[in-house]
Amino acid sequence: MTGRRTGARSRIARIALPATLGLAPRVWHAAAMSIEIPEKLAKDHGGVSADEIGRKWAETMEVCGGLDGDQSVLDIGCGPGRMAISIGERFDWSNRYLGFDVRARDITWATREITGRHPSFGFEHIDVRNPLYNPEGAVDPCEVRFPGEAFDFALATSVFTHMQRDETAHYIRETGRVVSGVFLSSWFLIDDEAEAQIAGGHALFTFAHALDDGTRADRAMAAETVAHPLESAVEMLKAAGFSDIEHIRGRWTRIRTGRHNQDILVARKR
Ligand SMILES: C[S@@+](CC[C@H](N)C(=O)[O-])C[C@H]1O[C@@H](n2cnc3c(N)ncnc32)[C@H](O)[C@@H]1O
Repeated sequence: MTGRRTGARSRIARIALPATLGLAPRVWHAAAMSIEIPEKLAKDHGGVSADEIGRKWAETMEVCGGLDGDQSVLDIGCGPGRMAISIGERFDWSNRYLGFDVRARDITWATREITGRHPSFGFEHIDVRNPLYNPEGAVDPCEVRFPGEAFDFALATSVFTHMQRDETAHYIRETGRVVSGVFLSSWFLIDDEAEAQIAGGHALFTFAHALDDGTRADRAMAAETVAHPLESAVEMLKAAGFSDIEHIRGRWTRIRTGRHNQDILVARKR
């Protein structure tokens, strides 16, 4: 893994993440997860290859974010627990973990199937509005207060890709309040290089719908696939007290191959 500092404009480290990280495979080649997410739940969260995707993410969290089995973990927008199961299997279920999500049926399932077997892995439902995942939600995302307890490590995989700018900024501020260590989040991020790929017809998405808040949507329903400007994402993280921010480019731009479709930002508290 190599890193290089970019110019003064973005002042973040760029990291190229190879497809193979070179770690001992551990659970990587095991056929099925010990707890299998039903297809009807998994398909709403990036497809049925939940095991492979989750395991890759858990490996990335260890290699790029320093996650280990002793850290407490907050999973923002956890869905039915794809990351929970992958982290649990990777570190022998030794972490204290809390995931929350706006989808009641995901949380009901995860609580029964995951917490029922591994009580240090907990899940909470919040009735927060999201046009795609919980359109009737009673609470505005900007009103959400994260759990009072403190966490070492936070993750938000494929969540800000469904949220608007002010909602995302609020969630990042809340994360900054409760997390003392690393925050690993995934995004579709637009900068000059991504823009050039879109203009050249090379990127997987065009994000053709510019929204008033500076984000861009790929579909008519904005919440389906939201892209944020890289600079604004970095500003939000810095405003929330994070520094040492690394950008790992996602495969969606087709600038280079990598392990994950979405961009990743790894941010640390000093
Ligand atoms: C593509 S899924 C990703 C799920 C999980 N992070 C993963 O990677 O497996 C997006 C998730 O974000 C959740 N979500 C959307 N808006 C949210 C919000 N305002 N607060 C918490 N979760 C939210 C959705 O309910 C959904 O579970």
